[in-house]
Amino acid sequence: MTNTWWSGAVVYQVYPRSFFDSNSDGIGDLAGVQAKLPYLKSLGVDAIWLSPFYPSPMCDSGYDISNPRDVDPSLGTLNDFDSLIAHAHETSIRVIVDVVPNHVSREHKWFHEALASPPNNKERKRFHFRDGTSDGPPNNWISVFGGPAWTQVTEPDGTPGQWYLHLFDSGQPDVNWTNQEVIDDFDATLRFWLDRGVDGFRVDVALALAKDMSYANREQPQKLVDAIRLDLYDPENPEASREVREFLIDSPIFDRDEVHDYLRHWREILGSYQGDRFAVAEAWAYPTERAMEYARSLGQVFNFDFMVVPFNAETLHVTAKRIITNAIEFHASPTWVLSNHDNARVATRYGGGAEGLAKARAMALVCATLPGSMYIYQGDELGLGDGFVPPESRIDPIWQRSGQTNPGRDGCRVPIPWQSQEANFGFSTADKLWIPQDASWTPIAADLQESDPHSTLNLYRQMLTLRHDHPAWNDSMAATDLTLDGSLWFIERAHHVICVLNSGSETVAIDVEGRVLIASNPEAQEWEDLASQTHMVSLPANSAVIIEKNSQPNPQVEI
Ligand code: BGC
Repeated sequence: MTNTWWSGAVVYQVYPRSFFDSNSDGIGDLAGVQAKLPYLKSLGVDAIWLSPFYPSPMCDSGYDISNPRDVDPSLGTLNDFDSLIAHAHETSIRVIVDVVPNHVSREHKWFHEALASPPNNKERKRFHFRDGTSDGPPNNWISVFGGPAWTQVTEPDGTPGQWYLHLFDSGQPDVNWTNQEVIDDFDATLRFWLDRGVDGFRVDVALALAKDMSYANREQPQKLVDAIRLDLYDPENPEASREVREFLIDSPIFDRDEVHDYLRHWREILGSYQGDRFAVAEAWAYPTERAMEYARSLGQVFNFDFMVVPFNAETLHVTAKRIITNAIEFHASPTWVLSNHDNARVATRYGGGAEGLAKARAMALVCATLPGSMYIYQGDELGLGDGFVPPESRIDPIWQRSGQTNPGRDGCRVPIPWQSQEANFGFSTADKLWIPQDASWTPIAADLQESDPHSTLNLYRQMLTLRHDHPAWNDSMAATDLTLDGSLWFIERAHHVICVLNSGSETVAIDVEGRVLIASNPEAQEWEDLASQTHMVSLPANSAVIIEKNSQPNPQVEI
């Protein structure tokens, strides 16, 4: 594994529209992110990843981009971006931005040009335009968000015309990566942001760029897209889940070998800039080795497994072992992800309430201990669960495109509660927010957590300070031993610190040669057992502790 800043970084995902609103329009913005830099500094993150803030008609909350080299007026200006990045760098926080190579917005100038051109003109060849068949669309492919992956256009002369491909919403036409103009334009986008000082990129649906250009029908087309839906992964039934994901093999739309040519090219661009710029790929490929290929081509890939496996020491152990082994084999750094803007928050996924939160806190310590990079989704440091969003306020296209059967992802995008006693929990002074907040959040607002030593916010702060300052984490390549004992999982780093997770339903006492540095549950206790002269630690159910061993660290061994 290369020893770069990002291979062991703590990266905080900012979903700008829901972070902090500086201009009272009910939508978070870039100046709002800048205003919260002191908070992020006090949290102890190394970098922030900004979800899209580019001009967009917001069919998919900004992942439908009409101009990838500007800022949406509702989120600010390029000056705001420059100011944010300058201030972030002053406080030693790096900035990575989302890029969306698979598709643009229906409002992108290229798409307007395509609509104004006759079929087969070069303006259409930047996209996947095809004639329909007697059944309607050119083939039977399905959109990830539901419904057909094709939408018919009206030709300039007013007649019903060709169809264009969109793997996501109809407002997100896929671009054609076999077209050199598309390649060149994306290079220009990367360089635009690199020149403005970004430290890296998160590459949206990196596995989707290349398509089967014969556009042949496929059997079971729904399964082709279900294969990347994390919400369809059934942790209780790994065999069935494997079958779901096997549709990623030889897919006409995902994880085709040609994708890696584009990724390797971008890596060369990154390498031509000073300062270890990097990119992390969103690529839910199967099997795991295929996903790791994205790290080989681009630098890093998200290991999403912790977002789907159950809270169970054995499963977590097997999963982490596999991820670390793969990372070693591919000279990559593992990435630990508990939540993001596309999936239920970790506290909700673990059942919500006190138990969900206890498990989420324990997993935060686990992820902070494991070698590699840790990605934190905004609000997880407050222990937030998904907010309830009433049907009439849902804006995620998944809700409409699924015929209102799948509520979509708005619940994990509810704006952050900063101040318990202020309107909109201090997120905004507007009358109406782009997504309404959850009235039950008063007790978990950030201001109340500041003064509570046992709050999730302070747990995260202590944990990230520890990770930053303690010698066992000095080198992200430190040796890691993973062992399992019933419901207990031991993660030992550099033979110096151990994180112990108790995923069982009973409190367990363990003897340790060391002292507890941090506990996810304040009821964890340590004492000397005089009879056996051993130091004991009791771990409540669903909790984790990080222990510093008495002995000195061994020399570090590269993974
Ligand atoms: C993003 C989603 C988005 C989709 C289409 C995903 O990978 O994370 O939020 O809806 O790509 O751009």
